[in-house]
Amino acid sequence: MGGMEFNKIFAAVLIAGIVASLAGFVSKKLVAPERLEENAFKVEVVEGAGAGGATKVAMAEPVLALIAAADVARGEKISKACAACHSFTKGGPNGVGPNLYNVVGGPKNHAAGFAYSGTLQNHGGPTWTYAELNKFLWKPKAYDPETKMNFIGIKKPEDRAALLAWLRTMADSPKAVPSAAEISAEEAELKPAEPEAAPAEATGEPAETDKPADGKPAETPVKPAA
Ligand code: HEC
Repeated sequence: MGGMEFNKIFAAVLIAGIVASLAGFVSKKLVAPERLEENAFKVEVVEGAGAGGATKVAMAEPVLALIAAADVARGEKISKACAACHSFTKGGPNGVGPNLYNVVGGPKNHAAGFAYSGTLQNHGGPTWTYAELNKFLWKPKAYDPETKMNFIGIKKPEDRAALLAWLRTMADSPKAVPSAAEISAEEAELKPAEPEAAPAEATGEPAETDKPADGKPAETPVKPAA
């Protein structure tokens, strides 16, 4: 075979290789499966893990006033964020976390046969009232740094309200929605320490915005979350 023949064969092989790899590249571009950007249903969680981190919000917002009118179906969807660890139905198994049937209004550490951390009742009393559940679900590790519940928390007040509105239905006799007295007690406890944007002329002092120009949260003394 002459040198010329060899060159032709070599060129043919080279071109075939280029074509093949181009084809692969193009087909990958064409058929690359579109990945879902997020879970189809996304629950916003608190940013800044657990206790101690500098976070925007220093404590849970009150939600009791929202529960009676909250969207129960949405609450059930939000409970998917818990389902990896919890069952909610009557007689459901304990998993990574305890079964949560009858939990609203019930005692802390309520599920028989579950190995609790045993410290939940040291924070905010022995009962899972709506108010305690709200604070716990906002940031479990801020509520009880020793809790075994490794869950970052549910950021939006509307989401916690919807979740609690649904969770109360997972019971033999659902606890009544929060009373007016419970609602005002919670609001008194969780009210931000900063005064409601008072009209500037009331004090004669220059109005202070609650967001300083440097973007850092206003330095206002706040009560600890628990
Ligand atoms: C990663 C697993 C995990 C996820 C996710 C999780 N939990 Fe938990 N949960 C636990 C564990 C573990 C405990 C036991 C905590 C302890 O003993 O300190 C617990 C305890 C609880 C308790 C107290 C139960 C009792 O009997 O005192 C409640 C209420 C609760 N979880 C609600 C929720 C809800 C609502 C969600 C979803 C928004 C959720 N959890 C998500 C693991 C989880």
